[in-house]
Amino acid sequence: MALADLSGANVDVAYRAAMRGFASTVTIITACDHERHHGMTATSVTSLSMSPPSLLVCLNQKTLLHDVMIRSRRYCVNVLHRDQADISAAFSGGLPPEKRFEIGAWAWTEDGLPYLTDAQANLFCRKAAALPYGTHTILVGEVEAVNLREAVAPLVYHDAAYCVTGPAL
Ligand SMILES: Cc1cc2nc3c(=O)[nH]c(=O)nc-3n(C[C@H](O)[C@H](O)[C@H](O)COP(=O)(O)O)c2cc1C
Repeated sequence: MALADLSGANVDVAYRAAMRGFASTVTIITACDHERHHGMTATSVTSLSMSPPSLLVCLNQKTLLHDVMIRSRRYCVNVLHRDQADISAAFSGGLPPEKRFEIGAWAWTEDGLPYLTDAQANLFCRKAAALPYGTHTILVGEVEAVNLREAVAPLVYHDAAYCVTGPAL
């Protein structure tokens, strides 16, 4: 096993290579403010605690979703099912914001928040905290309601490709 030289620019290269080895579940985060709704693909979703039920998501401050999230009180983490890679591609730049919700089975809550009706899960969150760090903001969401699709078969992103999971043993 080759050990990377962890100095200067090499750290960036080695870090990027190491992160390609992370397998992450793909989600689409949706939010709405008074003017618009928006959604974006994100894998930086991490379970934070059970009490209260909460999760983290890290958003690049340059994204349009970041602007919307900073002004909104609620958002939805739509966990994608293995057959929804095309929706992930659309929501990560494949389609412009105004066309994204034309792909997939979207519905809207009474207060205008979009959610994907056949996602692996919908986690409806109240924004509890926002911590800027470097180029990103870490958002803490308190989970207020959950919809679950019965069969567990999430879409995973690994080594820059969409994958599905299966038992190792
Ligand atoms: C698989 C995948 C995961 C991503 N995860 C994140 C993420 O966790 N946070 C983030 O800020 N951007 C993430 N992105 C990048 C955004 O989806 C992409 O920059 C998007 O076009 C930004 O859209 P917006 O500016 O319309 O909000 C990810 C992209 C892909 C393909």
